[in-house]
Amino acid sequence: MPSNRAVAYKGPGVVEVIDTDYPDFELHDGPGVNPANIGRKVEHGAILKTVATNICGSDQHMVRGRTTAPPDLVLGHEITGEVVEVGSDVEFIKVGDLVSVPFNISCGRCRNCKERKTGVCLNVNPDRPGSAYGYVDMGGWVGGQAEYVLVPYADWNLLRFPDKDQAMEKILDLAMLSDIFPTGFHGAVTAGVGVGSTVYVAGAGPVGLAAATSALLLGASVVIVGDMNADRLAQARSFGCETVDLTQGDPADQIEQILGVPEVDCAVDAVGFEAKGHGSDSGHEAPATVLNSLMDITAAGGALGIPGLYVTGDPGGIDEAAQKGSLSLSLGTGWAKSLSFTTGQCPVMKYNRGLMMAILGDRVHIADNVNAVPISLDEAPTGYAEFDAGAARKYVLNPNGYLAAA
Ligand SMILES: NC(=O)c1ccc[n+]([C@@H]2O[C@H](COP(=O)([O-])OP(=O)(O)OC[C@H]3O[C@@H](n4cnc5c(N)ncnc54)[C@H](O)[C@@H]3O)[C@@H](O)[C@H]2O)c1
Ligand SMILES: [Zn+2]
Ligand SMILES: [Zn+2]
Repeated sequence: MPSNRAVAYKGPGVVEVIDTDYPDFELHDGPGVNPANIGRKVEHGAILKTVATNICGSDQHMVRGRTTAPPDLVLGHEITGEVVEVGSDVEFIKVGDLVSVPFNISCGRCRNCKERKTGVCLNVNPDRPGSAYGYVDMGGWVGGQAEYVLVPYADWNLLRFPDKDQAMEKILDLAMLSDIFPTGFHGAVTAGVGVGSTVYVAGAGPVGLAAATSALLLGASVVIVGDMNADRLAQARSFGCETVDLTQGDPADQIEQILGVPEVDCAVDAVGFEAKGHGSDSGHEAPATVLNSLMDITAAGGALGIPGLYVTGDPGGIDEAAQKGSLSLSLGTGWAKSLSFTTGQCPVMKYNRGLMMAILGDRVHIADNVNAVPISLDEAPTGYAEFDAGAARKYVLNPNGYLAAA
């Protein structure tokens, strides 16, 4: 049996590369594993040798100590891999397949999965609907920032790339199918983006840049990205977005300078609960800022796509209410304007195949747009630190050397 190494959360601000168990077809006890999931048989699963596994802003919430994630939790929910073993109940996925793993773990059998709401599968997480690899309160499925990882319900969850050689030529793009590309696309779709739309995306991190890419792919006439990070705004301009610098104040005035009106048709929150204030408040956390400003600038009848993550418990919240996930929203503004809201995990499976075809057909260059940068597994702690400091990069871990040529 091969050995296994993985990136683990050790405590606020600290991740380490550790030796860990090579997976088998059972969910064993470990950090963050829900007691009701211990001993769960996973003969429907596959073991992957990791080809690419990305660091995400969602991981950062845990690593910054802003969740109840336990120490030693193995991180990683953005996984692309090669199948090296299949369980006895797997029918169609084969050893040797090159696959993308939706970050949502889902069963394919429950009411929500049948309705394609795979972000809120009812059967994989005893804590609440919805699950993911290597994440707090998500049932305890082991993370994939590792050399090897177990994927349950493999026939259902895995997206197989049609041709391995062709896939390896675009592997950094395809590595974005496990989360941020579908997530950004979901943000744009649920914000109602279509041909000719004007769009504002709050946040120029990888998810915001993926939402902006998606809005352009969907035919938006103008895509405006807002952040207070100059390098990330430059990255957004590199593929045709307009930008607003939120250290200068609320986005409405700058949007008016671009569009002639202080509002957009569609808005995406790609920031979440660690949002900073605008203008002179841009150095301080103000968790309701993005939601309130999007309600302000979205035209009446419009929609907000909200992939940015909001939590039910935040030990580092700015006040007692925020520590319980309660924010001070001007919902009256949203109500008066008949705005629609879509929150939650992106149901990756709804979009990943179509976006894979767009990548393979050379219609979109997501890895360039988010500035995907491969690094070794041992460089993960540095990658986490640089990403936390606001690097305009999407770090892609390369635990088994597959990305040498990428
Ligand atoms: N819904 C999902 O399925 C899903 C999937 C992946 C990530 N996410 C969430 O999406 C969010 C973004 O992820 P990421 O990897 O891009 O994270 P990130 O932390 O790299 O990017 C967030 C960006 O928001 C900027 N920001 C802070 N306050 C702002 C404000 N008021 N207006 C505009 N920008 C502001 C920050 O400077 C930063 O550049 C996170 O909350 C993450 O957890 C959700
Ligand atoms: Zn992610
Ligand atoms: Zn399900």
